[in-house]
Amino acid sequence: MQVTMTVNGESVTRDIEPRLLLVHFLRDTLGLTGTHWGCDTSNCGTCVVQLDGEPVKSCTVLAAMAGGHDVRTVEGLEQGTTLDPVQQGFMECHGLQCGFCTPGMLMTTRALLDKNPDPSEDEIREAISGQICRCTGYTTIVRSVQWAARHSDGATAEQSTTEDVPNDDATAGAVR
Ligand code: FES
Ligand code: FES
Repeated sequence: MQVTMTVNGESVTRDIEPRLLLVHFLRDTLGLTGTHWGCDTSNCGTCVVQLDGEPVKSCTVLAAMAGGHDVRTVEGLEQGTTLDPVQQGFMECHGLQCGFCTPGMLMTTRALLDKNPDPSEDEIREAISGQICRCTGYTTIVRSVQWAARHSDGATAEQSTTEDVPNDDATAGAVR
């Protein structure tokens, strides 16, 4: 069957098998390997992309179901040479270690801040609760989201400074 969708602002049309998952369409058909594939059982969340602005686990969506819709992947965050504040925040606040969970975390965070520019810590933790990070203990991820929230309102990543970075232990804290 043929499917047409918009991916990161560009219309793409491909012949696919009806059973093809969106995560494999993005990675294997389009070569957008920034979206990671972890568990394939809807548990880890590293495969999260935005579908019409909503974060979805792309291992649970058929590529055919995305037909006619707007898909945004982690490759679509950066604008020209300017990082999205979400990307910058994870860098500034050490929101990643191995980076495997990071694409999904970034896309979920971007969707959260688009709807709620000033989320509480509880709201951040709830937003990322469908995603697993085996490295960071989540504390630095929460700080990264808070950094991005402070810099998403009219500010660009290039305007940020390291003065915003909390300097306490990057690995402290535990999962709630
Ligand atoms: S690969 Fe989709 S939730 Fe783990
Ligand atoms: S940074 Fe390694 S799984 Fe999150």
